Formats: sequence, structure tokens, C-alpha cells
Amino acid sequence: MITINKFVLFVVMLPTIFVASQPIDTNTFPFEKVTIYVTNNMTNTQLTMYCKDKHHNFGTQTLKSGETYSFKFIPAYIFRRSLYFCHFSWNSESHYFDIYVQTRDQHGCDKDCYWHIKESGPCKDNAGGKGVTQCFHWKKTT
Ligand SMILES: *[C@@H]1O[C@H](CO)[C@@H](O)[C@H](O)[C@H]1NC(C)=O
Repeated sequence: MITINKFVLFVVMLPTIFVASQPIDTNTFPFEKVTIYVTNNMTNTQLTMYCKDKHHNFGTQTLKSGETYSFKFIPAYIFRRSLYFCHFSWNSESHYFDIYVQTRDQHGCDKDCYWHIKESGPCKDNAGGKGVTQCFHWKKTT
């Protein structure tokens, strides 16, 4: 009797084990895309940037003052740890920033995520879904 119960439990658990052990592939599930909009909010300054995650590189972009670049992706569904980072440079400045951190951005950026790049760092509209603009510092590099 105990043996049968264990077997039944194992069979019931199998799909769970299978799903949980899948590699994280953000394109596996047809869930909604997130679009990241990055606007150069610096005056008279051309911004050069590229954004990446583990698997994708969105290429180098140059933005004049006021110009916007956008890219889309599908966030991970089961393990909510999609992460995209961008490199920004202008004049002699060079900075990194994590432009999409799923645990930080899944609320407020569930479809569209608007960022404004300033000298001091990026600012995000509707941070946490609360309609406020939140400014961040550049990521410290070692
Ligand atoms: C970016 O520039 C726009 C247009 O000048 C302005 O409305 C907005 O407040 C600026 N955003 C930030 C975070 O400075």
C-alpha cells in the first residue's frame, strides 16, 4: 500500500519536476512582451548605448538629445529573474545600469517601461506602478 502511494505521488509530481527543471528560456512561453523605452534627457549631448541580457544583444545605438530607443522582450515566467543591462557613454563618461530587473520592475513596467537618461543616472516613470518618477544612480563598477 505504501509503495503504491509513493508511486502515485511520484507520477503526480513528475510534471512539476519536469517544468521546474526546464532551462530559463524567455521565448518558451507566449506571454506578454515588455517594451523598454530609453530617452536621452541630456541637453546637447549625444548618448551612445547598448543593451544586453545573457542571450541577446540589442546592438549599439546613438541617441541625440530627446531621442528614444526601444526594445522588446518576453520576461521569464516561472523563474522571475529576467535581467537586462545597458551601457551608456557620452563625452568621456561610461556607465552601466540594470535597465530591467524583473523583481524590481514587474510592477509598474508590466508592459511598457519608460526611462529617461540624465547625467546623474536613469529615471523611471511610474516606478512600482505608483505613478511617480524614480531616479537611480549608475551602477558602481569595480
Ligand atoms: C525628460 O525630458 C522631458 C522633456 O524635456 C521632461 O518632460 C521630463 O520631465 C524629463 N525627465 C526627467 C526624469 O528629467
